[in-house]
Amino acid sequence: MSLSQVSRIVLVGFMGAGKTSVGRALAERLDWLFADVDDAIEEEMDASVADIFERFGEGRFRDLEERKAMELLSGDEVVLATGGGWAARPGRLESLPAGTVSVWLEVGPREAVRRAEGQAGKRPLLDVGDPITTARELLSARARHYARATCRVDTEGRSVDDVTSRILEILGTHGLETHPE
Ligand code: S3P
Repeated sequence: MSLSQVSRIVLVGFMGAGKTSVGRALAERLDWLFADVDDAIEEEMDASVADIFERFGEGRFRDLEERKAMELLSGDEVVLATGGGWAARPGRLESLPAGTVSVWLEVGPREAVRRAEGQAGKRPLLDVGDPITTARELLSARARHYARATCRVDTEGRSVDDVTSRILEILGTHGLETHPE
């Protein structure tokens, strides 16, 4: 499958990986729609992610996240930015609709926390005593799930434009042959 046969691109990875910024830039370059699962949930619930966690619990947020992502993946020519926990469930990346590629945007725990600063309303899981330790633990538990993505791009030290170009280059030149592991 080459980029011309791809109808959806799903960005996965840890908090602060740049899924939303890169997703927006990618959609613009492709002239596709951009959707963000967290934004769609916040809009539907008329509440921030942190409020949803606090009022209804993480379990309810995960249910909403699953439903919203499926809903947004029913369209074509869409770039979808998921929340960091979405792909960290077994089977998520294996059950994407045909014509969908997934891209793992990699970021280390320290950089993730640095980028997440000032956005506590969206990332209650990092709103703890030592966010770097939490990020390190969460990331090490999740990495094997993210690694199921079709391809991966390291985002550290790279601008949104660089990461976007890299994704287009990978998908354009190698198609899906870049599947890791
Ligand atoms: C989460 C990541 C957040 C948001 C929620 C939970 C996670 O999205 O969905 O706070 O479990 O990693 P971002 O990855 O966009 O920060």
